[in-house]
Amino acid sequence: MQNIVLVGTQWGDEGKGKIVDYLSEKADYVVRFQGGNNAGHTVIIGDQKIVLHFIPSGILRQNTVCMIGNGVVVNIKALFEEVKMLQKLGFQVTPENLRISENAHLILPYHIYMDILAEKNRGDQKIGTTAKGIGPAYADKISRTGIRMSHLRDMKDFEQRVRYNIEQKNTLIAHLYKDEVIEYQYVHDEIIEFRDWVLPFLTNVSTELRQAHHKGKKVLFEGAQGTSLDIDHGTYPFVTSSNTVAGGACVGAGVGPTMIDGVIGVCKAYTTRVGSGPFPTELMDEVGKAIAQKGQEFGATTGRPRRCGWLDGVFLSHAVWVNGVTDLAMTKLDVLSGFETIKIATSYRYPTGVTSNAFVSENDVLEKVEPVYEELSGWEVIPKDCTSLAQMPQTVQKFLSRVEEIAGTRVSLLSTGPDRRDQIVIHDFF
Ligand code: IMP
Repeated sequence: MQNIVLVGTQWGDEGKGKIVDYLSEKADYVVRFQGGNNAGHTVIIGDQKIVLHFIPSGILRQNTVCMIGNGVVVNIKALFEEVKMLQKLGFQVTPENLRISENAHLILPYHIYMDILAEKNRGDQKIGTTAKGIGPAYADKISRTGIRMSHLRDMKDFEQRVRYNIEQKNTLIAHLYKDEVIEYQYVHDEIIEFRDWVLPFLTNVSTELRQAHHKGKKVLFEGAQGTSLDIDHGTYPFVTSSNTVAGGACVGAGVGPTMIDGVIGVCKAYTTRVGSGPFPTELMDEVGKAIAQKGQEFGATTGRPRRCGWLDGVFLSHAVWVNGVTDLAMTKLDVLSGFETIKIATSYRYPTGVTSNAFVSENDVLEKVEPVYEELSGWEVIPKDCTSLAQMPQTVQKFLSRVEEIAGTRVSLLSTGPDRRDQIVIHDFF
């Protein structure tokens, strides 16, 4: 395989950072293709915990070039701070190993402000956004008034574009939100400080990937968030504002679909969700609390506690289909250790009494379904020295083969603990 896409098959936070870190040892390029610093990808190296928001986890490997594709929205101040954090830890980040698409859109201070004001205005219909300005930045992109990274090259042009945006937003702020308006000078001052720093990183990512492909380089496309948060295929409107599914890699990096050789779907052994919206397998009891505590389920970006529940096989099978998943990477198996039994939802029961294993994305329907569970025997512990599937407890093997049947695809990678080395490879990639 030369080009692999990696995506989350649930509501984000599946542990993608760790899997990307493993795969990027072999990849020549790691490319982010959507989202922004709403993502928080955690990698644990020894006793060091590194949380990345913009930069692909591949930056932690020498000789891997990381790219931020056109589909990403970038806050250059936050990006600067992330680069400085990495440099302080001794990682090299230069225009040699970090390339940013000149077509990526900027998250500007007014996007963050509008994100916060819009959430306030939603009352009890809040989405529970990360307040990073993601939705408003994508809204401007789609409205064709957004500011691209390339617009930073000519500050006169930048000013004209930003002033137009501010005028529009101030009307909304003054009349609908009844709050303080935005001044151009503030936006200018926030940006100018980082402009000269960021310009050397800009490139045409699509063209560079074409050249890389012709040289036989291996490329990993790193998705953020998860399938249930996809703007089209998730639980709209409780979603993020980008296409998180594998198809988004083509659009958000500038490569054709025939270039993709495989899709890895990362899946936690249970389910979590941050923010609002329906969650059929959510556990409001002691089991849910125990999973949250054992799995340290707190948002890497916002620190918010994550809602926890059993693995939703109905959604997983939907995610395998919409992403074209060829291989599953299952994470946090160790968190389920110690439970006498483990449950997987295999279908939903509707209020009419009908059961179905087809996923529905309408929230008002999804809110009312009741998961139908299959109960499997649990396992006491996953021994630290397990290096192959055959060495795993029988009950773990049974759980995994049942997941494969329900999802309709094979499990190729297992993450059995937080450290970089806690990994079992069943079928390798690249
Ligand atoms: P936004 O992306 O900040 O607009 O937030 C929209 C929804 O997506 C909210 O429910 C967030 O909690 C959720 N979300 C955004 N990014 C992530 C992520 O990386 N992991 C999990 N949830 C996320």
